[in-house]
This record gives sequence, structure tokens and C-alpha cells, in this order.
Amino acid sequence: MNLTYDSIAEIYHRLAVPLVFLRPAKDILAVLRIEPDAQILDVGAGAGAAAQAIKSIKGFKGKLVELDISLEMLKASNSSSSVSKVVGQVPGLPFCDNSFDAVISNFVLSHVLKYREAITDMVRVLKPGGKIVITSWDNDKNNYSELWNETAESVIGKVRLSKVVSEFMPSRDIFTNPENTSELLKEAGVKDIEIHKSESTVKTTISDFIEMKSVMLQGRYIKSKLGAERFKEFYRRIVENFNEQFNDPVEYPRFAHIVIGTKP
Ligand SMILES: C[S@@+](CC[C@H](N)C(=O)[O-])C[C@H]1O[C@@H](n2cnc3c(N)ncnc32)[C@H](O)[C@@H]1O
Repeated sequence: MNLTYDSIAEIYHRLAVPLVFLRPAKDILAVLRIEPDAQILDVGAGAGAAAQAIKSIKGFKGKLVELDISLEMLKASNSSSSVSKVVGQVPGLPFCDNSFDAVISNFVLSHVLKYREAITDMVRVLKPGGKIVITSWDNDKNNYSELWNETAESVIGKVRLSKVVSEFMPSRDIFTNPENTSELLKEAGVKDIEIHKSESTVKTTISDFIEMKSVMLQGRYIKSKLGAERFKEFYRRIVENFNEQFNDPVEYPRFAHIVIGTKP
């Protein structure tokens, strides 16, 4: 069963980046206060939310290296002369020690079982005095996700769905709490750690919300289990439930934790 991001790169770039990931990426860059000529590594860059956010920094002449395990996600990211793309994974970053002024990793370490090694590796490639940023979602809930989850659970079972989440995102519970991230950074020798909060509002049509949810992890799993025809039926039921209960468009808040520190 292929639950990786490869098959969803296009929808991720078209919907998830502008609706959900761009705002925190902008907040991360504001917290980082990068120099115009900075060399930045984006670990698990996905479809390029940080690259899009960097475009709004006036006079940026530095370089952003996007690294991701998924070639398709990197292909979906916009190309530009200041961005280079590398297929790879953390831990196991294919870069020399002390290479970057900043290393960022947004919503990625929840997927990584060997998260301690991942953090040590990110600190390794950071120059002394450089900044590391790890961002993760809060465990926030909203009525729309709840209804989507309830409908999904009614088809596939609650236990099975939560098992899939813990298999694909084995470290999610750890990184939901920014104090854990802060402790892990301390253990890796990082100093001057600060925790910031990113708050954003997602406003979208019911149709885009459901499309986006349906390609996220649980949606991909349900599709793989039900097959195309039964998935269409499931999709139709979700649309019906949403239209019965909510007005279009939908609007809800999202909270992310940005943890930043400096390599001594
Ligand atoms: C939720 S997406 C976040 C993408 C991007 N950082 C953003 O903010 O939009 C997680 C990304 O991490 C990548 N990923 C997962 N495990 C990884 C690993 N061990 N090394 C590198 N990338 C990884 C996935 O392929 C996916 O593109």
C-alpha cells in the first residue's frame, strides 16, 4: 500500500500549500529573520511552501535547498533560480557538516521514527551560529475535520484508522507538544531555544476541503481499502453530510508550534 506523498503532490501543491501550509511558512521566516544572502536547508520541503514564502522577503539573494524523500513533491514545488531540489531523507542528509545558515523542518518529524538522529543530523549540517527551526501542528480540532473523521471511521473503523496514523506518523504525539521539541533540541546541544505560535485561519469551499482531506493520509488509506468505486460512494456521502450540516464556505483556525534555536 503506497501511502507516501508521491500520489498527492499535485493536490497538495494546488490546495494544501495555499490553504494550510503557506501561512505558517511565512511565520517561520518572520521568526528566523534571515539575512538576504542566507543558505537555507528545508528538510521535508514537500511541495514548496517555504519557497513560496521566501518570495515575499524583499531582496533575498540567498539559496534555499529543498530536500524531500518524495521526488513527486519536489517536482510539484515551483522552481526558481534561488531554489535547488534534492531527493533524500533525514536522518542521512547528503550534506557536509556546517553547510547552512538555517535548517528548517516544517510538519515533517512527526513522520520520522528516528527523530533524535534526525535532529542531530540537522544540527550537524548547520553552521555554528546558525538557526534550526522545527514546526509542528497543535492537536487542534474543528467541526469539519470531526465530521470527516466520523464518516471515515463509520466506514473503516476507528481503531484501524488511528493505527494507520500511528504507523505513518509514529512521532506525531511527541512533536504535538513544543516542550518535547525544545528538550530534544537541548539534548542535541542547541542553545537559546524559543517557542512561538503560528495562528492562521483556513477559509475554503466545502468541495476543496473534502478534496484536500480525501488525499491526506486517512483518505489515501480509505481509498486503498475501498477501491475506486466504493470510495466514490464514500465521497458522495461525505459531501451530503457536509451540505446538510454546514454552510459554504467553511472557516476554521489552525495552530502550529514553531521551535527555534541556535547552534553554538
Ligand atoms: C506534511 S508534509 C510538509 C511539507 C512542507 N514542509 C510544508 O510545510 O508544506 C511532510 C513532508 O515530509 C516528507 N518526509 C517525510 N519523511 C521524511 C524524511 N524522513 N526525510 C525527508 N522528507 C520526509 C514527505 O515526503 C512530505 O513531503
